[in-house]
Amino acid sequence: MNKSLFLSIAAMLSLNASAEKVELSTPHNTLVLNIWKGGEPKFLYYGQKLSASDLASLPEPTNANWSHLEIYPAYGASHTQSETAFAMKHADGNLSSQLVVEDYQKSAVTEKAPNGATRTGERLTITLKDPLYPNIVHLYYQTYSDVDMIECWTDITNKEKATVTLTQFYSSCMPIRRQNVYAHHFHGSWASEAQLTCEKLNNGILEIKNKDGLRNAMSDRSEVMFSLDGKGRENEGDVIGTALVYSGNYRITVDTDDSEFHYYFAGINPDNSEYHLKKGETFTTPHVAYTFSSEGLSGASRNFHKWGRKYHLRHADRERDILLNSWEGVYFDINHEGMEQMMHDIASMGGELFVMDDGWFGEKYRRLTDNAALGDWVVDKKKLPEGIERLVADAKKNGVKFGIWIEPEMANTTSELYEKHPDWIIKAPGREPILGRGGTQVVLDLCNPKVQDYVFSIVDNLLTKYPEIAYIKWDANAPVMNHGSQYLPAADQSHLNIEYHKGLISVCERIRAKYPDVVIQDCASGGGRATYGLLPYFDEFWVSDNTDALQRIYMQWGTSYVFPAIAMASHISAVPNHALQRTTSLKLRCDVAMSGRLGMEIQPKHMTEEEKAFCRQAITNYKMIRPVVQFGDLYRLHSPYEGDNLASLMYVSEAKDKAVFYWYKLETFKDEHFPCIKMAGLNPDKMYTVKELNRIDNNPLPIEGKSFSGKYLMANGLEMPYSHDVDNNKKNDWSSRVIYLEAR
Ligand code: GLA
Repeated sequence: MNKSLFLSIAAMLSLNASAEKVELSTPHNTLVLNIWKGGEPKFLYYGQKLSASDLASLPEPTNANWSHLEIYPAYGASHTQSETAFAMKHADGNLSSQLVVEDYQKSAVTEKAPNGATRTGERLTITLKDPLYPNIVHLYYQTYSDVDMIECWTDITNKEKATVTLTQFYSSCMPIRRQNVYAHHFHGSWASEAQLTCEKLNNGILEIKNKDGLRNAMSDRSEVMFSLDGKGRENEGDVIGTALVYSGNYRITVDTDDSEFHYYFAGINPDNSEYHLKKGETFTTPHVAYTFSSEGLSGASRNFHKWGRKYHLRHADRERDILLNSWEGVYFDINHEGMEQMMHDIASMGGELFVMDDGWFGEKYRRLTDNAALGDWVVDKKKLPEGIERLVADAKKNGVKFGIWIEPEMANTTSELYEKHPDWIIKAPGREPILGRGGTQVVLDLCNPKVQDYVFSIVDNLLTKYPEIAYIKWDANAPVMNHGSQYLPAADQSHLNIEYHKGLISVCERIRAKYPDVVIQDCASGGGRATYGLLPYFDEFWVSDNTDALQRIYMQWGTSYVFPAIAMASHISAVPNHALQRTTSLKLRCDVAMSGRLGMEIQPKHMTEEEKAFCRQAITNYKMIRPVVQFGDLYRLHSPYEGDNLASLMYVSEAKDKAVFYWYKLETFKDEHFPCIKMAGLNPDKMYTVKELNRIDNNPLPIEGKSFSGKYLMANGLEMPYSHDVDNNKKNDWSSRVIYLEAR
């Protein structure tokens, strides 16, 4: 077919006189779709909120004829040869589908959000049908009345006479106008999570995926920010932010075809996961969350943080406790005296919670190192003869709360659980299992309802017996290496990845129904499960096993794109750092940890009195700024990824009466020239008084105690000395500042 003939057919398809502009709005965003019965639903606009008159005159995008613009393109019966959102094999073997609008309606929604809060908004339901088959696909678009976020998802119902096979089932597709668009996304691995990548969208495909099976934030992450007018800037420019709300394998595809648009697709990864949908069954995809901000990347982040704190994170209206976790302090060397000493030490520094990490369990097989006992959640009586009873009593005595580590989805082959239930592990039929951590770790098969009951019972038993347990660290330290389920029937082996995550969510729901209050940390070999797919059931996540302060500046920067500080567990640890062997100053370690949810991961016994006093002061300071950090608005100011050895960010309270400014020098040179960092987010008319926190200098900064208008601070910033004014024996190459600003 020549191009002009193609264009005229496309024109007939796209310019339909009976098309209705269907509009959805949040406080500052508008999405407009072009919908008409009998045609494919199309995209018209997503961006800043439109006035009624602009909405009425909203034109078709230029060259729309050549841009197919479908919001849920199906494979097999369409003019477009580009990526599609949906494909299935019908019961009769036909591989083609065509999805046209049968009906659509908008309705007001008031319902429970995933974290239990009540959300209100509008829901658009578009009912799609294949003219040749009775199957129904619903596309949902749901707004929030108080945050700038629209969630989209799909459900697919098989109304044929027999089972059909879904081979592609993205949650959503969003066309993004070509105009010098940059994608900002995150790559990582163990101990280097959330590394920011920024690339211009070019012709062809950008694919971001995860096939870990369990830890879908370990490598590439499923959140992407699109800067629409060149490389993203933190506090200006148009940005579309996207996040897939799912804990399992996913695929994000951005297809830039021969049209005027990039097409963003997000959903469950269909690789080796074709889904057999029985007659009458419905398959529901995960949600994709979209936001738009004209206040740059930080603006989109603030939208995610507000939405996350209100609707997708547990207890985000409660300040988080300052804790000591035992892992880097003692590893598996757990005993009553050691735990009590740590409780006493964290309490003496002003901490509020002590968490006993790995190593406390196992009877027949003991957890002396990482090669045994996962699955046997009974106290190791040789290490802890007086049991958890004494631990909770010791915590009480020392005036701190008590928390405990578990890894409930796992077993070791050296465990009583595995001896009893070898059929409970994920493993392909007929194969010997491939073993993970410690040479013995295997993953339990959460597709199996008995395994779901068992995993629930681990938490249930602990919390029923010891209601004093205030905090659980839920870990998951293995990928799926054995692709097969001993529970699923042979014909449905491809359901493993999807059913596992359904099982996991169902367990989490049961736990939250019975234990709504307990604080639960989401950890997976570090930050392997930092995902909104799980956060509704958790209070926070462990950012990384790498606690080196300098590396954390980069990882926390990337993590902050979509996750709020209240969820980012950030701990002061020992030097040389256990992951990197680098020695940084205690001040830098405190200053970096205080930009997230502050904690400690260290053996206090090995700290000097001077170091303890410094941490005590840092904890006191953190208590003062905690509401600003944990509930405030984030403004990233200067990216460590710029490569000019400086990073800076700040949090501002909602009322704009308090702010905390962080400044980190990343490397030291003889000839140093750093820019003065302009602040953001302040009230230009308010006067803010400067107070440096965690000060080590012999003399206060010249600006200490002085007041500046928000206007001045945002136009000029404050000069930060490049080094610290300390005695020679205290000098090192690190330099950082935490400045508290309070309006008079
Ligand atoms: C994982 C976690 C660590 C620690 C260990 C315990 O690596 O990320 O924080 O809990 O497991 O084995």
